[in-house]
Amino acid sequence: MTSPDGHPAAGADFVVVANRLPVDKRVQPDGSIVWSRSPGGLVTALTPTLATRSGAWVGWSGSTSDPDDPTPDQPQIEGIDLRAVPLSDAEVVDYYEGFSNATLWPLYHDVLVKPEFRRDWWDTYVRVNRRFAEAASKVAAPGAMVWVQDYQLQLVPAMLRELRPDLRIGFFLHIPFPPPELFSQLPWRTELLKGLLGADLIGFHLPGGAENFLTLSRRLLGAAASRDPVGVRTDFGTVKYDDRTVQVGSFPISIDSANVAAAAASVADRAAEIRAELGNPEVLLLGVDRLDYTKGIDVRLAGLDRLFAAGRLDPSKTMLVQLASPSRERVDSYIDIRNRIEQTVGHINGTHGTADRPPVRYLLKPIPRNELLAYFRAADVMLVTPLRDGMNLVAKEYLASRDDLGGALVLSEFTGAAAELVDSYLLNPYDEASVDDAIAGAATDPVDVRRERMAKLHAQVMDNDVDQWANSFLATLAGPA
Ligand code: ADP
Ligand code: F6P
Repeated sequence: MTSPDGHPAAGADFVVVANRLPVDKRVQPDGSIVWSRSPGGLVTALTPTLATRSGAWVGWSGSTSDPDDPTPDQPQIEGIDLRAVPLSDAEVVDYYEGFSNATLWPLYHDVLVKPEFRRDWWDTYVRVNRRFAEAASKVAAPGAMVWVQDYQLQLVPAMLRELRPDLRIGFFLHIPFPPPELFSQLPWRTELLKGLLGADLIGFHLPGGAENFLTLSRRLLGAAASRDPVGVRTDFGTVKYDDRTVQVGSFPISIDSANVAAAAASVADRAAEIRAELGNPEVLLLGVDRLDYTKGIDVRLAGLDRLFAAGRLDPSKTMLVQLASPSRERVDSYIDIRNRIEQTVGHINGTHGTADRPPVRYLLKPIPRNELLAYFRAADVMLVTPLRDGMNLVAKEYLASRDDLGGALVLSEFTGAAAELVDSYLLNPYDEASVDDAIAGAATDPVDVRRERMAKLHAQVMDNDVDQWANSFLATLAGPA
């Protein structure tokens, strides 16, 4: 049975609540509407997760509208019941660009830029979180499992519990959870902790994030918080708060490895074409990121500049392709990093290039999925150099793409992925010598050394995919608290 708006009337047994829907709405200059894949790792991980479990996805369409408009967006993709939550222009400024991405994002990423603490942004964050909680409460069937995602929606678990105490509520944070000294800067720190503690299970990528959360619950709420009391699983703990026991654990996210590997193998010919179009460089380096100051695009460019200047890499034989997807384009810190990157690309090409052979090619646009996989397949060295990153799925996509065991991964220690991908060329992005050595090593080590590393890394990603991540989180959520 369906309701008048075409959605199932009985409600969904499984509901994902995320800031973004998996599809992003763009209104063209002629007024026509185009839906495309939404940016970011969360959508990469959750789309296959929901496609294999029938359920609903509550989120924002990426475009603004009047929240009181009775005719909301109704995007459709096969197999997922999409429920759009409207945001007004002012809410995008205060909730999304403001509190989410100019307060929480820098605070949770090692204060790489200074977080702004503004009461008006916070007030809007509370109001929008309530709207998401209400939308989830309307779509969830009695006793349903609801999985709330990421830093934009940290108040939703408690708000939803108040509306629907019958639900089983999980929360997963896709970005780092900061050390207590940083989190405690937040004027609304106790409110956020209490919001999260509305969940039955709170998941982080790494044990360190879970540990920080346990410490903060003890310090700021006086809650009884401890590592797994049975002492069996060192990656788990519990918080007893408000007469409830909340489980806390680490669940490293991954990708749909088998599908990525198969799709990448099918574009091997296009990979060869890409190399030819680029003039068949001896060494092809690749960067693929949302254009974000956390990603360390500037770190890798500075490394390349030094390696060219020192004669350790030859600019006439080496090329870097940097594919950057525009992100949060009206936020000041994103405008600043874009300017810095574009200036450095110009500097490297002007200093080390020739008119017909600039060593850095930089594209600022989202690349279609299969084309992106062809670039992965073409690259000799993948540069993943964040100053801080919760996981980094690009690294895992690159490894899954390389069932030919070609290529090499340069990976920052400051990504969640580094905890698992220990056979990559690891670097400390704050240490110039470490950056230079890792890039030079990955570019010049003998083929058999690189192949041996890639064999282990490829197997690691194939053996630990997103289905395992989702199964392990949801099985823990379904179990007794
Ligand atoms: P984040 O979630 O911070 O954006 P991740 O590395 O975890 O970072 O995930 C990024 C996702 O976005 C990956 O699936 C990646 O393939 C995709 N992506 C990144 N840059 C581009 C680009 N330039 N074009 C298309 N997709 C991109
Ligand atoms: O993985 C982190 C994350 O911020 C997601 O929450 C988000 O959807 C994605 O990156 C892309 O960012 P945005 O939604 O701000 O474009």
